[in-house]
Amino acid sequence: MAKDLREYLKAVRDMGPEFYVETNRPMDPRLEVCVIQHKLQAQNRFPVVFCPEIKGSKIPLVTNLIGDYNRWAVALGIDQATFKKVGEIAIFQEYSKRRSQTRPVQEIPSSEAPVKEVVMRGDDVDLTILPLLHHAELDSGKYVNIGFTVCRDPDTGICNAGVYRHELKSRNELGCFIIPANHGSYIARRYAEMGKPMEIALVCGHHPMVVLGSCASGPLNMNELEVMGSLLGEPLRVTRGETVDLPVPADAEIVIEGTVDTRQWITDGPYAEYQGYYGDVTPCYLMKVSAITMRKDAIFHDLDNAHREHITWSVLSHEYRGFQAVKAVVPTIKAMHIFPHTLGFKIAAVSIRKRVPGEARLAGLAALQDFQVKVSVVVDEEIDVYNEAQVLWAVGTRTLADRGVHIIPDLLAPGLDPTAYDESRQKKGTMVTKVVIDATRPIGLPFAIPITPPKDLWESMELEDYLKVKLTAAV
Ligand SMILES: Cc1cc2nc3c(=O)[nH]c(=O)nc-3n(C[C@H](O)[C@H](O)[C@H](O)COP(=O)(O)O)c2cc1C
Repeated sequence: MAKDLREYLKAVRDMGPEFYVETNRPMDPRLEVCVIQHKLQAQNRFPVVFCPEIKGSKIPLVTNLIGDYNRWAVALGIDQATFKKVGEIAIFQEYSKRRSQTRPVQEIPSSEAPVKEVVMRGDDVDLTILPLLHHAELDSGKYVNIGFTVCRDPDTGICNAGVYRHELKSRNELGCFIIPANHGSYIARRYAEMGKPMEIALVCGHHPMVVLGSCASGPLNMNELEVMGSLLGEPLRVTRGETVDLPVPADAEIVIEGTVDTRQWITDGPYAEYQGYYGDVTPCYLMKVSAITMRKDAIFHDLDNAHREHITWSVLSHEYRGFQAVKAVVPTIKAMHIFPHTLGFKIAAVSIRKRVPGEARLAGLAALQDFQVKVSVVVDEEIDVYNEAQVLWAVGTRTLADRGVHIIPDLLAPGLDPTAYDESRQKKGTMVTKVVIDATRPIGLPFAIPITPPKDLWESMELEDYLKVKLTAAV
């Protein structure tokens, strides 16, 4: 059986209520599903939330698929014993191994594709049957926000994919917001130059590794459908679109097909953003929907954009790129982790085996090349970058504030950052001030000896052998 959303849902369901919960009543599409996730977060809980009924729709909804960074271990199929032993770096190692390759897609006939069990075209198209949510109070409307969009580069014929949000505009129209720097925008601009409409297919619901593949950054001619196969560990099964000349994932839950006139602009937002603030009204494209295809018992995949889940979706591909950038200048890099537990993915920790003075600053500068990363903290190799307390301890005890803090103004950044400024510094713009914090010990100078438990006792001691009560697993 091909891997799909259902396989992942079964895996998390089998792991118990810290991994998967279901709601017990019809849920209001306005705000309620998001508040549930924030309530769970307040208790440090991040299970997948399955809502069998959203008022006004017959289609169930699932959200918080990757509420916690550690869910990637489940999605990647890393067994729990290995994960416990190796720790979170196992996620990065497995992702990097798969990400460095691609796998050609496997084409199957429409008649065998689960996503073609129901086909609606023309006047039958009605987006209002979907359980679309209004996520935050000041949002302009209801959104599809973790579907990924497939389009084709008109020059090379190669397919591109990316997660772009789509606001419900009418029963057969959606907004389509693509950040100008993303490849989707480069392709859209080419269609505009050629005076041709751009065909797109919006895919809602698939295995998390497939969705993640659409967020991989690489050259414009990288076929993300082939990256998806590699991340999934098997070829992505595709079939032909009904009304567009595009391959669509055969094992998806729902596919929305249509065209975009790339010379016509409408507006998107305001919209609650991943930085934890509302984003402004901004230009976006209009998608005219020509078909909806789905499984008979389709599940709609949603995400609360302003919940930390957004960040856990984003960090792995940024870590992969950042790691390569640091490695190119400091080959002794051990690990890099972007803290996923806050909104905004702004703070990265990089551990290096420091051999030469100056390496820490260089590593920190290289990590800042990722336009999302605003603060890079460089630590010695024994500091676990996945342990925020350890990283902060290193900052608190190893940073010399007058020599180890390097401030770099005027660097390109997402305009959504509330501190972003323009060249006059009077108005909002696309630049921020970034900082490198060197939290490494000096080379060749004496430094205090860190206290660590004796290695043999640490490794041999099992808590159950020493304690009268059995402790329950930490959440
Ligand atoms: C949950 C989530 C929501 C996102 N929303 C958008 C969006 O609305 N517009 C956008 O351009 N990028 C968005 N992104 C980022 C892009 O999907 C990502 O940068 C992707 O690699 C872009 O692909 P492309 O360069 O091939 O166009 C989102 C990412 C995630 C994980």
